[in-house]
Amino acid sequence: MSLSLSFLVSLWPLLISLWVLYGVSVAVYRRYFHPLSSIPGPFLNTISYLAILYQQGILEGQLLHALERWHAQYGPIIRISPNEIHLSSPEHYETIYSNALKTGFYKDPAFYGPMEGPIKTPIILTMISNEEHRVRRMGMNPFFSRRSVLGLEQIIRDKTEKLVNMAEKSLGQIGGEFDVHRATRALTVDIITEYAYARSWNYMDLADWGEGYQEAIRAVQTFFPWFQAFPSLLPVFGLLPDWVLVKLYPHFGKWFGSLEVVQQSVADVKRDIVLGIKPPRRTIFHELIDPEPAIMNVEAVKGLPLRQKLPDVVVFADAVNVTGAGVETTGATICRALYEVLDSPEISQKLREELKTALPDPFDVQEMSLVELEKLPYLTGVIKETLRVSPGVPGHLPRVVPSTGATFEGHTLPPGTVVSMSAWSMHHNTYLFPNPDKFDPTRWTNPDVDAVHARERALVSFGRGTRNCIGQNLAMCELYYSVASIIRRWDDLKVHPDFGREDVKLVEFLLSYHPRKARKLRLVGG
Ligand code: HEM
Repeated sequence: MSLSLSFLVSLWPLLISLWVLYGVSVAVYRRYFHPLSSIPGPFLNTISYLAILYQQGILEGQLLHALERWHAQYGPIIRISPNEIHLSSPEHYETIYSNALKTGFYKDPAFYGPMEGPIKTPIILTMISNEEHRVRRMGMNPFFSRRSVLGLEQIIRDKTEKLVNMAEKSLGQIGGEFDVHRATRALTVDIITEYAYARSWNYMDLADWGEGYQEAIRAVQTFFPWFQAFPSLLPVFGLLPDWVLVKLYPHFGKWFGSLEVVQQSVADVKRDIVLGIKPPRRTIFHELIDPEPAIMNVEAVKGLPLRQKLPDVVVFADAVNVTGAGVETTGATICRALYEVLDSPEISQKLREELKTALPDPFDVQEMSLVELEKLPYLTGVIKETLRVSPGVPGHLPRVVPSTGATFEGHTLPPGTVVSMSAWSMHHNTYLFPNPDKFDPTRWTNPDVDAVHARERALVSFGRGTRNCIGQNLAMCELYYSVASIIRRWDDLKVHPDFGREDVKLVEFLLSYHPRKARKLRLVGG
């Protein structure tokens, strides 16, 4: 016994040497003999997946800024991990994203898979096959079409009016300030839940404005980079009881709580269907739980596979996705627009003048219509410029090269190579957006129509192609109403003196956030 133990102990140096030798051989292969070895990139990235984990997991969501530095150093095509290439020239976006159904680029399972959690239920965001995704998405599209959003404009108008009333109440107190950060996230939750379930969660009525929900989403997202780097961790997490996870990381408690609320909303819709209770209007979840036979047949006629009634677990997973996807993204964009406008006397004066002419009564949000607001060029410039400098999903969105292979920037990429681009680097392209860090709404109102069209093609905040953002019409409607009504309502509104440009810096875990230490936007009266 003692002999075999001492024998095993004596093997340790050998085992460690073999392990080091294996590591060195893998690194040498990846750096010098791998099919992507001719593509430039930082040394550590080319030999190990841990380089991305360092940016995302240890430094917390910094990859988008690192990509900018690496492109400046190595050029328009860079190797950011042993099997992933990142491209910065806008000309490639069409091949990888806009025309993906034709070109065959599909979502990277290693990046999106961990977002499904341990239950591994493909949600609309994470489905790998573009064709299967198209069938699933077809049932949802009508609920988010422009026509549908225009038909439900009153919901957004009413909720925005509530937001303005909340601001009025806060600012009316002596020394009052309006916590627009939390309020806008509550607004976006209330809109999407009314829209999706015909039952708003009414977070704007709660004392803490449902802050725990946003915190829960963020907390869960900070785990993505770890599960992407070490996929085998995920099933281990799946085996741990909830109470252990909560002990390890208290934010999980909020996350489990939020899942229960989503589950309740889906159950309420289901109960109404079973009891034959007619909803105020048919929502996306009425459709997913109990699809209209007519819509399913139309798809069959068009030669597409017949859409299936989804299992409960998939409906629930999509509910978690649809409810969460539009909260931080839209709330943060509204806040950034307000910050940029109020931080610049020139921009706020121009926007106020335009709004005063279009909306003579500052108190009447109900007088506004989206179609009229969209016709206001400066307001539109402010919104587009905000989506440029603060894209809700700014980072790399990895896709896999299909079986045909691909060539970019003179480099041939074999099938299976992961290739990505990011809204952040598209929006900071210095040719299309000179002085890219400057917030300048006139980039979009410029009389040079061709230049504006080129910029519009490069503005990819909502993605492009069949995998683009399903909620973009809704998000745009929320942006127009909230920015217009708050700026029009007060002439003397200001950013709280505590808040500065350093607080709008972005970090990214698929969705963008502000660094934990950043202050949250508050507004004060004049
Ligand atoms: C300013 C606000 C928003 C921005 C910038 C944004 C951006 C995006 C982007 C870039 C994608 C594609 C992600 C990828 O390729 O992996 C996406 C997908 C998605 N977004 Fe949004 N989004 C916003 C608001 C919303 C809203 C309000 C909803 C509410 C319904 C929503 C729901 C979704 C869903 C469900 C997907 C997955 C779609 C699919 O894969 O078919 N988003 N979003």
